Amino acid sequence: MTDRLIIRRPDDWHVHLRDGAMLDHVAPYTARQFARAIIMPNLSPPVTTASEGAAYRDRIRAAVPAEYDFTPLIVAYLTDHSDADEMARGHAEGVFTAAKLYPAHATTGSAHGVTDVANIMGVLERMAEIGMPLLIHGEVTDHDVDIFDREAVFIDRTLAPLVRRLPTLKIVFEHITTAEAVEFVKAAPATVGATITPQHLHINRNAMLVGGIRPHAYCLPVAKREQHRLAVRAAAVSGSPKFFLGTDSAPHAVHTKEAACGCAGIFNAPHALESYVAVFDEEGALDKFEGFASEHGPAFYGLPLNAGTITLERGETVVPDRVGEVVPFHAGETLGWRLA
Ligand code: DOR
Ligand code: ZN
Repeated sequence: MTDRLIIRRPDDWHVHLRDGAMLDHVAPYTARQFARAIIMPNLSPPVTTASEGAAYRDRIRAAVPAEYDFTPLIVAYLTDHSDADEMARGHAEGVFTAAKLYPAHATTGSAHGVTDVANIMGVLERMAEIGMPLLIHGEVTDHDVDIFDREAVFIDRTLAPLVRRLPTLKIVFEHITTAEAVEFVKAAPATVGATITPQHLHINRNAMLVGGIRPHAYCLPVAKREQHRLAVRAAAVSGSPKFFLGTDSAPHAVHTKEAACGCAGIFNAPHALESYVAVFDEEGALDKFEGFASEHGPAFYGLPLNAGTITLERGETVVPDRVGEVVPFHAGETLGWRLA
Protein backbone atom coordinates (compact mmCIF):
# COMPACT_ATOMS: atom_id res chain seq x y z
CA MET A 1 0.00 0.00 0.00
CA THR A 2 1.31 3.42 -0.94
CA ASP A 3 1.38 5.64 2.13
CA ARG A 4 3.27 8.55 0.67
CA LEU A 5 2.89 10.24 -2.66
CA ILE A 6 5.48 12.73 -3.87
CA ILE A 7 4.33 14.62 -6.95
CA ARG A 8 5.42 17.61 -8.96
CA ARG A 9 3.79 20.81 -7.63
CA PRO A 10 0.21 20.98 -8.89
CA ASP A 11 -1.88 23.83 -10.33
CA ASP A 12 -5.57 24.67 -9.97
CA TRP A 13 -6.98 25.35 -13.43
CA HIS A 14 -10.26 26.90 -12.17
CA VAL A 15 -10.77 28.83 -8.95
CA HIS A 16 -12.79 31.78 -7.63
CA LEU A 17 -10.70 33.97 -5.34
CA ARG A 18 -13.20 36.88 -5.21
CA ASP A 19 -12.04 40.34 -4.14
CA GLY A 20 -11.67 42.53 -1.06
CA ALA A 21 -11.91 40.87 2.36
CA MET A 22 -12.97 37.50 0.89
CA LEU A 23 -9.90 37.49 -1.38
CA ASP A 24 -7.65 38.12 1.60
CA HIS A 25 -9.40 35.31 3.48
CA VAL A 26 -9.34 32.59 0.81
CA ALA A 27 -6.24 33.24 -1.34
CA PRO A 28 -3.78 31.70 1.17
CA TYR A 29 -5.57 28.31 0.98
CA THR A 30 -5.08 28.09 -2.77
CA ALA A 31 -1.53 29.49 -2.70
CA ARG A 32 -0.51 26.98 0.00
CA GLN A 33 -1.26 24.02 -2.27
CA PHE A 34 -0.88 25.20 -5.84
CA ALA A 35 1.92 26.83 -7.82
CA ARG A 36 -0.45 28.52 -10.26
CA ALA A 37 -4.17 28.97 -10.60
CA ILE A 38 -6.57 30.11 -13.28
CA ILE A 39 -8.57 32.84 -11.55
CA MET A 40 -12.19 33.24 -12.56
CA PRO A 41 -13.21 36.78 -13.54
CA ASN A 42 -16.86 36.81 -12.37
CA LEU A 43 -16.36 39.72 -9.98
CA SER A 44 -18.84 42.54 -9.68
CA PRO A 45 -18.15 44.28 -12.02
CA PRO A 46 -16.44 41.51 -14.03
CA VAL A 47 -12.82 41.61 -15.26
CA THR A 48 -13.24 42.58 -18.92
CA THR A 49 -10.23 44.73 -19.87
CA ALA A 50 -6.49 44.14 -19.69
CA SER A 51 -6.03 47.01 -17.26
CA GLU A 52 -8.72 45.58 -14.95
CA GLY A 53 -7.01 42.20 -15.22
CA ALA A 54 -3.62 43.64 -14.31
CA ALA A 55 -5.11 45.50 -11.32
CA TYR A 56 -6.87 42.33 -10.12
CA ARG A 57 -3.63 40.38 -10.44
CA ASP A 58 -1.93 42.97 -8.21
CA ARG A 59 -4.67 42.62 -5.60
CA ILE A 60 -4.31 38.83 -5.65
CA ARG A 61 -0.53 39.03 -5.27
CA ALA A 62 -1.02 41.38 -2.30
CA ALA A 63 -3.41 38.88 -0.69
CA VAL A 64 -0.96 35.95 -0.91
CA PRO A 65 1.43 35.58 2.04
CA ALA A 66 5.07 36.19 1.05
CA GLU A 67 6.10 32.65 2.02
CA TYR A 68 4.17 31.15 -0.91
CA ASP A 69 5.50 31.03 -4.46
CA PHE A 70 2.20 31.43 -6.31
CA THR A 71 1.32 32.76 -9.75
CA PRO A 72 -2.24 33.88 -10.47
CA LEU A 73 -3.25 33.42 -14.11
CA ILE A 74 -5.85 36.00 -15.06
CA VAL A 75 -8.86 35.39 -17.29
CA ALA A 76 -10.96 37.84 -19.28
CA TYR A 77 -14.74 37.75 -18.86
CA LEU A 78 -16.44 37.70 -22.25
CA THR A 79 -19.54 39.80 -22.85
CA ASP A 80 -21.63 40.46 -25.95
CA HIS A 81 -19.46 43.56 -26.42
CA SER A 82 -15.99 42.02 -26.02
CA ASP A 83 -13.44 43.35 -28.44
CA ALA A 84 -11.03 41.05 -30.30
CA ASP A 85 -8.22 43.64 -30.19
CA GLU A 86 -8.56 44.11 -26.43
CA MET A 87 -8.43 40.33 -25.86
CA ALA A 88 -5.42 39.95 -28.15
CA ARG A 89 -3.64 42.88 -26.49
CA GLY A 90 -4.29 41.49 -23.00
CA HIS A 91 -3.01 38.10 -24.11
CA ALA A 92 0.10 39.55 -25.79
CA GLU A 93 0.90 41.60 -22.68
CA GLY A 94 0.77 38.46 -20.55
CA VAL A 95 -2.20 39.66 -18.51
CA PHE A 96 -4.88 37.35 -19.91
CA THR A 97 -4.01 33.67 -20.01
CA ALA A 98 -7.46 32.80 -21.34
CA ALA A 99 -11.02 34.12 -21.72
CA LYS A 100 -14.16 32.79 -20.08
CA LEU A 101 -17.54 32.28 -21.68
CA TYR A 102 -20.41 32.46 -19.23
CA PRO A 103 -23.76 32.07 -20.94
CA ALA A 104 -25.73 35.04 -19.58
CA HIS A 105 -27.56 34.15 -16.34
CA ALA A 106 -26.18 30.59 -16.21
CA THR A 107 -24.61 31.01 -12.77
CA THR A 108 -23.26 33.35 -10.08
CA GLY A 109 -21.90 36.56 -11.55
CA SER A 110 -22.93 35.78 -15.12
CA ALA A 111 -25.43 38.62 -15.65
CA HIS A 112 -23.00 40.31 -18.04
CA GLY A 113 -22.28 37.07 -19.87
CA VAL A 114 -22.83 36.19 -23.50
CA THR A 115 -26.41 35.93 -24.76
CA ASP A 116 -25.47 34.16 -28.00
CA VAL A 117 -22.09 32.75 -29.06
CA ALA A 118 -22.69 34.27 -32.49
CA ASN A 119 -22.15 37.69 -30.85
CA ILE A 120 -18.53 36.87 -30.01
CA MET A 121 -17.57 34.80 -33.05
CA GLY A 122 -15.05 37.43 -34.19
CA VAL A 123 -13.37 37.35 -30.77
CA LEU A 124 -13.27 33.54 -30.78
CA GLU A 125 -11.76 33.48 -34.28
CA ARG A 126 -9.01 35.82 -33.10
CA MET A 127 -8.41 33.69 -30.00
CA ALA A 128 -8.02 30.63 -32.23
CA GLU A 129 -5.46 32.49 -34.35
CA ILE A 130 -3.35 33.58 -31.40
CA GLY A 131 -3.67 30.37 -29.38
CA MET A 132 -5.63 31.92 -26.48
CA PRO A 133 -7.75 29.28 -24.72
CA LEU A 134 -11.51 29.66 -24.29
CA LEU A 135 -12.89 28.45 -20.95
CA ILE A 136 -16.56 27.55 -21.00
CA HIS A 137 -19.28 27.29 -18.39
CA GLY A 138 -21.21 24.72 -20.37
CA GLU A 139 -24.87 25.04 -19.50
CA VAL A 140 -27.80 26.36 -21.49
CA THR A 141 -30.13 28.78 -19.74
CA ASP A 142 -33.36 28.06 -21.62
CA HIS A 143 -36.26 27.96 -19.17
CA ASP A 144 -37.71 24.88 -20.82
CA VAL A 145 -34.55 22.84 -20.18
CA ASP A 146 -34.41 21.03 -16.84
CA ILE A 147 -31.51 22.12 -14.66
CA PHE A 148 -30.11 18.57 -14.58
CA ASP A 149 -30.06 18.47 -18.40
CA ARG A 150 -28.50 21.85 -19.05
CA GLU A 151 -24.94 20.61 -19.54
CA ALA A 152 -25.86 17.81 -21.93
CA VAL A 153 -28.08 20.14 -23.98
CA PHE A 154 -25.28 22.73 -24.13
CA ILE A 155 -23.05 20.16 -25.82
CA ASP A 156 -25.56 19.59 -28.61
CA ARG A 157 -26.70 23.16 -29.10
CA THR A 158 -23.52 25.15 -28.57
CA LEU A 159 -20.31 23.26 -27.88
CA ALA A 160 -20.33 20.67 -30.65
CA PRO A 161 -21.14 23.25 -33.35
CA LEU A 162 -18.43 25.56 -31.96
CA VAL A 163 -15.77 22.85 -32.05
CA ARG A 164 -16.77 22.03 -35.63
CA ARG A 165 -16.61 25.68 -36.64
CA LEU A 166 -13.32 26.49 -34.86
CA PRO A 167 -11.36 23.24 -34.67
CA THR A 168 -8.09 25.02 -33.81
CA LEU A 169 -9.54 26.96 -30.85
CA LYS A 170 -8.33 25.55 -27.52
CA ILE A 171 -11.41 24.97 -25.37
CA VAL A 172 -11.63 23.93 -21.73
CA PHE A 173 -15.04 22.52 -20.88
CA GLU A 174 -15.05 23.57 -17.25
CA HIS A 175 -16.24 21.53 -14.25
CA ILE A 176 -17.83 18.69 -16.19
CA THR A 177 -20.57 16.77 -14.40
CA THR A 178 -22.10 14.29 -16.86
CA ALA A 179 -21.33 11.12 -18.78
CA GLU A 180 -22.27 13.06 -21.91
CA ALA A 181 -19.55 15.62 -21.23
CA VAL A 182 -16.97 12.89 -20.63
CA GLU A 183 -17.88 11.17 -23.89
CA PHE A 184 -17.85 14.44 -25.82
CA VAL A 185 -14.40 15.44 -24.56
CA LYS A 186 -12.94 12.00 -25.21
CA ALA A 187 -14.19 12.02 -28.80
CA ALA A 188 -13.26 15.66 -29.49
CA PRO A 189 -9.98 16.80 -31.06
CA ALA A 190 -6.95 17.33 -28.80
CA THR A 191 -7.85 21.04 -28.67
CA VAL A 192 -10.67 20.20 -26.22
CA GLY A 193 -9.94 19.48 -22.55
CA ALA A 194 -11.96 19.54 -19.34
CA THR A 195 -11.53 20.38 -15.69
CA ILE A 196 -12.99 18.25 -12.92
CA THR A 197 -13.85 19.44 -9.39
CA PRO A 198 -13.49 17.45 -6.16
CA GLN A 199 -17.19 17.75 -5.39
CA HIS A 200 -18.27 16.18 -8.66
CA LEU A 201 -15.99 13.23 -7.87
CA HIS A 202 -17.38 12.81 -4.34
CA ILE A 203 -21.08 13.63 -4.42
CA ASN A 204 -24.15 12.99 -6.49
CA ARG A 205 -27.42 14.88 -6.24
CA ASN A 206 -28.59 12.82 -3.27
CA ALA A 207 -25.99 14.61 -1.16
CA MET A 208 -27.92 17.79 -1.78
CA LEU A 209 -31.48 16.52 -1.36
CA VAL A 210 -31.75 13.39 0.81
CA GLY A 211 -32.80 13.91 4.43
CA GLY A 212 -33.23 17.66 3.99
CA ILE A 213 -31.94 20.30 1.62
CA ARG A 214 -28.22 20.83 2.02
CA PRO A 215 -27.16 24.16 0.58
CA HIS A 216 -23.43 23.54 1.03
CA ALA A 217 -23.62 20.74 -1.55
CA TYR A 218 -25.17 23.10 -4.11
CA CYS A 219 -23.04 24.41 -6.93
CA LEU A 220 -23.41 24.92 -10.66
CA PRO A 221 -23.37 22.86 -12.70
CA VAL A 222 -25.40 21.01 -10.09
CA ALA A 223 -24.31 17.51 -9.04
CA LYS A 224 -26.08 14.86 -11.13
CA ARG A 225 -27.12 11.19 -10.73
CA GLU A 226 -24.69 8.55 -9.52
CA GLN A 227 -24.07 7.18 -13.04
CA HIS A 228 -22.68 10.58 -14.00
CA ARG A 229 -20.46 10.84 -10.93
CA LEU A 230 -19.01 7.45 -11.80
CA ALA A 231 -18.34 8.52 -15.40
CA VAL A 232 -16.59 11.70 -14.23
CA ARG A 233 -14.53 9.69 -11.73
CA ALA A 234 -13.48 7.24 -14.44
CA ALA A 235 -12.38 10.13 -16.65
CA ALA A 236 -10.35 11.77 -13.89
CA VAL A 237 -8.40 8.64 -13.03
CA SER A 238 -8.09 7.42 -16.64
CA GLY A 239 -4.74 9.05 -17.28
CA SER A 240 -6.13 10.83 -20.35
CA PRO A 241 -4.34 14.18 -20.80
CA LYS A 242 -7.69 15.79 -21.65
CA PHE A 243 -8.82 15.79 -18.02
CA PHE A 244 -7.19 17.94 -15.36
CA LEU A 245 -7.60 19.48 -11.94
CA GLY A 246 -9.81 22.54 -11.51
CA THR A 247 -11.38 22.92 -8.08
CA ASP A 248 -14.03 25.54 -8.90
CA SER A 249 -13.63 26.53 -5.26
CA ALA A 250 -16.33 29.21 -4.92
CA PRO A 251 -16.67 30.73 -1.44
CA HIS A 252 -19.89 32.34 -0.25
CA ALA A 253 -20.50 33.60 3.29
CA VAL A 254 -22.64 31.15 5.24
CA HIS A 255 -25.71 33.40 5.47
CA THR A 256 -25.87 33.66 1.66
CA LYS A 257 -25.83 29.84 1.32
CA GLU A 258 -28.25 29.08 4.17
CA ALA A 259 -31.04 31.23 2.76
CA ALA A 260 -34.40 30.96 0.99
CA CYS A 261 -32.49 31.43 -2.27
CA GLY A 262 -28.99 30.20 -1.51
CA CYS A 263 -25.97 30.96 -3.70
CA ALA A 264 -24.35 28.31 -5.88
CA GLY A 265 -20.77 27.43 -5.01
CA ILE A 266 -18.72 25.02 -2.91
CA PHE A 267 -15.64 26.25 -1.05
CA ASN A 268 -13.20 23.37 -1.36
CA ALA A 269 -9.89 25.28 -1.34
CA PRO A 270 -8.74 24.45 2.22
CA HIS A 271 -8.31 20.70 1.57
CA ALA A 272 -8.64 20.33 -2.18
CA LEU A 273 -5.61 18.08 -2.65
CA GLU A 274 -6.56 15.76 0.20
CA SER A 275 -10.06 15.54 -1.27
CA TYR A 276 -8.84 14.67 -4.77
CA VAL A 277 -6.19 12.19 -3.68
CA ALA A 278 -8.74 10.26 -1.62
CA VAL A 279 -10.66 9.62 -4.86
CA PHE A 280 -7.59 8.42 -6.74
CA ASP A 281 -6.79 6.15 -3.78
CA GLU A 282 -10.32 4.70 -3.70
CA GLU A 283 -10.07 4.04 -7.44
CA GLY A 284 -6.68 2.32 -7.10
CA ALA A 285 -5.19 5.00 -9.33
CA LEU A 286 -2.68 6.87 -7.18
CA ASP A 287 -0.19 6.50 -10.03
CA LYS A 288 -2.47 8.68 -12.18
CA PHE A 289 -2.74 11.56 -9.72
CA GLU A 290 0.39 13.45 -10.76
CA GLY A 291 -0.75 13.60 -14.38
CA PHE A 292 -4.18 14.92 -13.42
CA ALA A 293 -2.91 17.42 -10.85
CA SER A 294 0.41 18.59 -12.26
CA GLU A 295 1.00 17.61 -15.90
CA HIS A 296 -2.12 17.56 -18.10
CA GLY A 297 -3.08 21.17 -17.38
CA PRO A 298 0.27 22.76 -18.27
CA ALA A 299 0.51 20.58 -21.38
CA PHE A 300 -2.93 21.73 -22.54
CA TYR A 301 -2.22 25.42 -21.86
CA GLY A 302 1.30 25.17 -23.34
CA LEU A 303 2.94 26.25 -20.08
CA PRO A 304 6.02 24.78 -18.40
CA LEU A 305 5.71 22.11 -15.74
CA ASN A 306 6.34 23.36 -12.22
CA ALA A 307 9.62 22.74 -10.47
CA GLY A 308 9.60 21.25 -6.98
CA THR A 309 7.34 18.68 -5.36
CA ILE A 310 4.70 18.28 -2.71
CA THR A 311 4.14 15.29 -0.46
CA LEU A 312 0.80 13.73 0.42
CA GLU A 313 0.74 11.10 3.14
CA ARG A 314 -1.84 8.77 4.51
CA GLY A 315 -3.14 10.26 7.78
CA GLU A 316 -6.03 12.19 9.18
CA THR A 317 -7.14 15.58 7.97
CA VAL A 318 -9.99 16.86 10.12
CA VAL A 319 -11.97 19.37 8.08
CA PRO A 320 -13.37 22.16 10.26
CA ASP A 321 -17.06 23.10 10.34
CA ARG A 322 -16.24 26.66 9.42
CA VAL A 323 -13.36 28.54 7.87
CA GLY A 324 -14.17 32.08 8.93
CA GLU A 325 -17.61 32.92 7.53
CA VAL A 326 -17.48 30.09 4.99
CA VAL A 327 -18.47 26.42 5.35
CA PRO A 328 -15.89 24.28 3.53
CA PHE A 329 -16.50 21.17 1.45
CA HIS A 330 -16.27 18.04 3.67
CA ALA A 331 -17.08 20.19 6.75
CA GLY A 332 -16.84 18.04 9.88
CA GLU A 333 -15.47 15.02 8.00
CA THR A 334 -12.08 13.37 8.38
CA LEU A 335 -10.15 12.72 5.17
CA GLY A 336 -7.64 9.88 4.95
CA TRP A 337 -4.76 11.87 3.47
CA ARG A 338 -2.85 14.94 4.55
CA LEU A 339 -0.56 17.42 2.84
CA ALA A 340 2.87 17.18 4.50
O1 DOR B 1 -21.33 26.97 -8.19
C1 DOR B 1 -20.77 27.87 -8.82
N1 DOR B 1 -20.30 28.96 -8.19
N2 DOR B 1 -20.69 27.77 -10.15
C2 DOR B 1 -20.26 28.79 -10.90
O2 DOR B 1 -20.24 28.65 -12.10
C3 DOR B 1 -19.89 30.08 -10.28
C4 DOR B 1 -19.50 29.91 -8.89
C5 DOR B 1 -19.42 31.20 -8.12
O3 DOR B 1 -18.83 32.16 -8.62
O4 DOR B 1 -19.92 31.25 -6.98
ZN1 ZN C 1 -16.35 28.38 -11.49
